[in-house]
Amino acid sequence: MNVEIEKKLQHAVSEHKNGNINIAENIYREVLKFDSSNLIANGNLGSILIYKHKSENGIPFLKIAFENKCDSEVYWFNYVDALINSGKLDEAHEIIERGKKVGFPSQNFEVLIERTLTPSQVHAKGKLYRALDGYYINFLRALHEKVYEGYFEIGTRFGDTLVLSQSPTIAIDPYFQLKKNPIFNKDSCLLFQETSDSFFKNTMPKLSHYKCQLAFIDGMHLFEYALRDFINLAKISTKDVLFLFHDPIPWTFKMTIRDNKKLRNDENWVGDIWKLVPIFIDAGLKNSLNLLSSAPSGILAVLNPDKKIISQLEKNYENICAKWVNVEFSKDNLSNFYNSDIFTKPEIYLKSLEKISFGNKIEKLTKEWISQ
Ligand SMILES: C[S@@+](CC[C@H](N)C(=O)[O-])C[C@H]1O[C@@H](n2cnc3c(N)ncnc32)[C@H](O)[C@@H]1O
Repeated sequence: MNVEIEKKLQHAVSEHKNGNINIAENIYREVLKFDSSNLIANGNLGSILIYKHKSENGIPFLKIAFENKCDSEVYWFNYVDALINSGKLDEAHEIIERGKKVGFPSQNFEVLIERTLTPSQVHAKGKLYRALDGYYINFLRALHEKVYEGYFEIGTRFGDTLVLSQSPTIAIDPYFQLKKNPIFNKDSCLLFQETSDSFFKNTMPKLSHYKCQLAFIDGMHLFEYALRDFINLAKISTKDVLFLFHDPIPWTFKMTIRDNKKLRNDENWVGDIWKLVPIFIDAGLKNSLNLLSSAPSGILAVLNPDKKIISQLEKNYENICAKWVNVEFSKDNLSNFYNSDIFTKPEIYLKSLEKISFGNKIEKLTKEWISQ
């Protein structure tokens, strides 16, 4: 390899290791202009594109890396991962079979094959479905590449999701434990240290010009709280709006109990957010719903819901709560949940948003230090 290209590659790998993904991506692309079959540049660029939820763009690079080094488990795994994320399931099966012939560890096959199945097919094997198509924070990062009229985040804790937004933002949490600079590239970021109910009752009336175009609802994980948050946010939403609820796809029964004090500290809890799926379907919102299979516990996306239906939900709120409060996530209602026909791969959902031009491209440059 030419010395200059070797130097560039080392630079890219070091930026990649330091988390400077965009810089690394650009340098890998430069290397490939001179050496299109370079194994490391192809493999690493492909893995960056998976991380950015652009797996389909990564497939040609991952294919080159794998075909040049078929005994590399990492290249094989990333290639299959990208094919699954893009919904190219037949091709994914072919490459999984080739991995079997090489003899890669068997637990990987099971996980990958299950990701090519529908939730009902996984259930028919006697298992609970697991959402494993990319990490939810990477899905949100991809969504925040666009700017929205207003981003509302209910439940922020450390700020891992808040930091991603580049839009005017309102974040609400009764107890912030921020570990990151919350403002990042935003023009404005208002933090309200109170519950969402208190915010909508006492604070929101003073902020009447704020509109919500994108919401991430990740506060109290009991369905009636999330439902109230949805109803309240819908009142201040723009014409096109996307509501995202975290944690609607549990992978154990235990993690859905309402009283999380019954769980040990090291046990996962997602509460009963899953109930919003049947509640919204019963209300007539099915065409606005998608259950995104982002790890670890999915995201429920509600796009441009009919405001009349939301008014009905508000009117019937008490009855809905009474009907659902004691229903448990159990074998009895799993089939209905898995057959709901709204499960979607996150990257395929991002493409559908792209098609309807949801959100605006970012025109401005990143913020810079301008004073001494
Ligand atoms: C799961 S964490 C949020 C994590 C964050 N969104 C992320 O993905 O990194 C849930 C947060 O919701 C907050 N919370 C609990 N009850 C709430 C309520 N009624 N209104 C708003 N936030 C609430 C908690 O304080 C906690 O910080």
